[in-house]
Amino acid sequence: MVDNITFRRHRRLRTSEAMRALVRETSLSADDFIYPLFIVEGENVKNEVTSMPGVFQISLDYLETEIEELHQVGIRAVMLFGVPNEKDEVGTGAYIDEGIVQQATKKIKAIHPEMLVIADTCLCEYTSHGHCGVIHDENIDNDESLKLLAETAVSQAKAGADIIAPSNMMDGFVIAIRQALDAAGFTTIPIMSYAVKYASSFYGPFRDAADSTPQFGDRKTYQMDPANRREALKEAATDVEEGADMLIVKPALAYLDIVREVKNATNIPIVAYNVSGEYAMVKAAAGNGWIDEKSLVMEMFTSMKRAGADLILTYYAKDVATWLKNN
Ligand code: PBG
Repeated sequence: MVDNITFRRHRRLRTSEAMRALVRETSLSADDFIYPLFIVEGENVKNEVTSMPGVFQISLDYLETEIEELHQVGIRAVMLFGVPNEKDEVGTGAYIDEGIVQQATKKIKAIHPEMLVIADTCLCEYTSHGHCGVIHDENIDNDESLKLLAETAVSQAKAGADIIAPSNMMDGFVIAIRQALDAAGFTTIPIMSYAVKYASSFYGPFRDAADSTPQFGDRKTYQMDPANRREALKEAATDVEEGADMLIVKPALAYLDIVREVKNATNIPIVAYNVSGEYAMVKAAAGNGWIDEKSLVMEMFTSMKRAGADLILTYYAKDVATWLKNN
């Protein structure tokens, strides 16, 4: 035996599942998860997204079944993305009363009033150029875009959205939306800000699902450089000052250091967005039988919570809730 240092037996606390459960530091619950939905116009549409097996674009008439299924497994919050038929230069479909997200919100609140509807507030699914703001001379005009984003948030709140989640990365979007919501009487509607959003290749499959690939250039003049950590703290601090109620860090898996940094630097709930590319990678490996999908997915989400995430936005939400329920 070694005699010049104290011998420690860490394995004592790993001897049985009950013992491990007793000392486990992190756990998952269905309440931690938010499920994204892609809503398309038309009727009787249920298109599987090629790069995201198990994820569908659905039309309004499928909401009833979908919301019922989510309710059954204990998912209590959905994030809505709209995929409109008509797009234009200024993303009109995002802020009209009969926009696809507005219609879906009304429908969900009618089916299950207690289901929380989180509206993604962005223009990219509604603009013909696919950028998250309006364009002047091939530049995304920050302050002009804010007006339309504020209008979008108000119209989503009018339709019944419980939480507004701006994802556009324009400067000042939280304060602009807060002021517009307050002025319209929606002082109690919280803002879940995509505060820390990187210009990431992990969004590829989402852009198929939401039909929102930029038609020219990229999003690097508004989304963050993946190389930057300090900048994440700057973005987070600004959004907290502007009145954000929750912060999203996105993507999640390759950015767990950022989740932890933002968690330590703030005192509001942190949401990790397990994005489309992360989902697609796991699905592809699982489809080939190369990994054990369920245990790998649970490990991934446990790691996100361990890193500091209070909530997780993921296309796996329904599966996870089902697994937790059948445990
Ligand atoms: C809209 C938006 C995007 C995602 C969420 N909201 C796409 C983007 O910024 O290009 C990505 C989500 C995912 O990849 O799962 N701006």
